Amino acid sequence: MRHHMGRVEVICGSMFCGKTEELIRRVRRAIIAKQTVQVFKPNLDIRYGIEAITSHDGRRIEARPINTPDEICGQLDSATTVVAVDEVQFLERGIVALANTLADRGLRVILAGLDLDFRGEPFGPMPELLCIAEEVTKLHAICVICGEQASRTQRLINGEPAHYNDPTILVGAREVYEARCRHHHAVRQD
Ligand code: TMP
Ligand code: MG
Repeated sequence: MRHHMGRVEVICGSMFCGKTEELIRRVRRAIIAKQTVQVFKPNLDIRYGIEAITSHDGRRIEARPINTPDEICGQLDSATTVVAVDEVQFLERGIVALANTLADRGLRVILAGLDLDFRGEPFGPMPELLCIAEEVTKLHAICVICGEQASRTQRLINGEPAHYNDPTILVGAREVYEARCRHHHAVRQD
């Protein structure tokens, strides 16, 4: 059964806020609703093996690794009614047009990604995706310093805040990153 109305949903927030957990929850419910679901994720996030997406709490579903938005297009089955993509911050800007096209065709598009990089600046295509989405869910983690809501991701290199000029992409989990609030988030600038 095809959805009557295509739409784009974005799930965003810092690391450890439950984005992947929420994506998996929506995918599971879509499957219960007898939708045909395809899940994708950028190839460079190989933390948990390349054929699955896994939340920090260990929840897991199968996902096809892709390198570009075009590869999503190329692998789409005609029966698919729901497309979910995790770690969408790593994709090129073409994901914005693709999300629009799929939603225009009547598909439900669920995208999860980091809104901010370790500097606290917008990450890749996320700003535009947040704008075109019908529904935006911004989740919060807990600041490891003060216990308030965390909106930022702290990158730590040898226990010290990473430098502003460090590369944007550094795949990792708790060994490199912590959730922090605005007040406790730090970037080395010197
Ligand atoms: P997560 O949102 O599922 O926790 O995963 C985010 C991934 O993004 C993780 O592999 C670390 C990576 N990452 C970067 O590459 N650059 C960054 O600036 C940040 C904050 C995370
Ligand atoms: Mg995740």
